[in-house]
Amino acid sequence: MSSVFLVGFMGTGKSALGRDLANRLGWRFVDLDEEIVSQAGRSIPEIFEAEGEDAFREFEIQALSAQAQQEQQVVACGGGVLLRSENRSLLLKQEKVLCLVASADEIWRRISGDPNRPLLKDREAMERRLKERQPFYELFPSLDTEGRSVADLSEELLHRLDLRP
Ligand code: S3P
Repeated sequence: MSSVFLVGFMGTGKSALGRDLANRLGWRFVDLDEEIVSQAGRSIPEIFEAEGEDAFREFEIQALSAQAQQEQQVVACGGGVLLRSENRSLLLKQEKVLCLVASADEIWRRISGDPNRPLLKDREAMERRLKERQPFYELFPSLDTEGRSVADLSEELLHRLDLRP
């Protein structure tokens, strides 16, 4: 059975929902950022600092294409995965991709001050990135996670992706 891929901006709930969904399905949960960290042998802030964002994006392309070979996984992608056309093409070919969304206020509440997210310096920069990426996020069907429990969202996803046991 083909895997589920969750995309969407930082802080929209990809990891929390992905983990819960994978549990319900008895599938493997994959956090693409964690795959990159283990491949690179460095943390995300270290990669950004030592090698820059482009190098991180190259790791991300490799990690996504490796995971796309697997089945029965729920893959939480990093918020910038759609910036690269290679990743957009790959994901547009997948059957089960959902883009999680939340308002800028909610995103900021959830993630400001997180030292593991080097691209989140201030709210203005965050909103700029969110706006720039909007056209890419809109390529995929969306799910608004604001004000909803993970359990409730998982139920909706199982239904929408036709995965209910
Ligand atoms: C990024 C999002 C992060 C991580 C990296 C860059 C982005 O993942 O990949 O810090 O460009 O939006 P999360 O969306 O899981 O926080």
